[in-house]
Amino acid sequence: MDRRRAQIAPSVLPADFAALGEECRALEKSGADRIQWDVMNGRFVPNLTFGPDVVAAVRPHTALPFEAHLMVVEPDALVGEMVEAGCELVIVHAEACVHLHRTLGAIRDLGARSGVAVNPATPLTAVEHVLDIVDLLLVMTVNPGFGGQPYLASMEPKIAEARRLIGRSGQRIELEVDGGIGPATIGGAARAGADVFCAGSALYRHPDGLAAAVTELRECAEEAWR
Ligand code: DX5
Repeated sequence: MDRRRAQIAPSVLPADFAALGEECRALEKSGADRIQWDVMNGRFVPNLTFGPDVVAAVRPHTALPFEAHLMVVEPDALVGEMVEAGCELVIVHAEACVHLHRTLGAIRDLGARSGVAVNPATPLTAVEHVLDIVDLLLVMTVNPGFGGQPYLASMEPKIAEARRLIGRSGQRIELEVDGGIGPATIGGAARAGADVFCAGSALYRHPDGLAAAVTELRECAEEAWR
């Protein structure tokens, strides 16, 4: 019997940016496990969101762990600021780092957990030599930059390959998916091997509110594991 708890990591990308403290308090009440900050500065992805000052301002409003998803080229300068702002996990993109191994090591040296993300076109060979210094592997199920995009089911074989890669590594590594995750898609990602699920629009557009949305997503994922 699989007794794992599916980790639901809401993205605050669709939240009301004028009330992020209140929005994060609502996410905590909803039963979410952590909050993902989609950090974009307009170069790696064609969008601009928030930086460490905004994250630091919101930090006192919730006890939920923060993870920073840095969709930023050469994120090294930003890593320390995001940890300082209160992120316990910092995710960088393999495609955005000149020296990925060094960057992941630097995240851990700061006392945070390290995460590495791969875009849909990026093969897992890009991360196979850094798994010993990774706490989370994020397989993107959309091309990053915007919320509300359709889930790429074509990523499910890659999610399964990532699960096998993690198994062979012998490391305790979380496997996260991000993009188009909702009640109709989370089961496929869970069956393929994901255990952390980042969702934005599916949560905020749920007719019965955030708590119902988080519960439904968790139930769909855990049902798929049974
Ligand atoms: C990258 C972002 C989005 C966001 C979730 O573009 O990381 O994937 O978190 O977006 P939804 O859940 O609305 O597809």
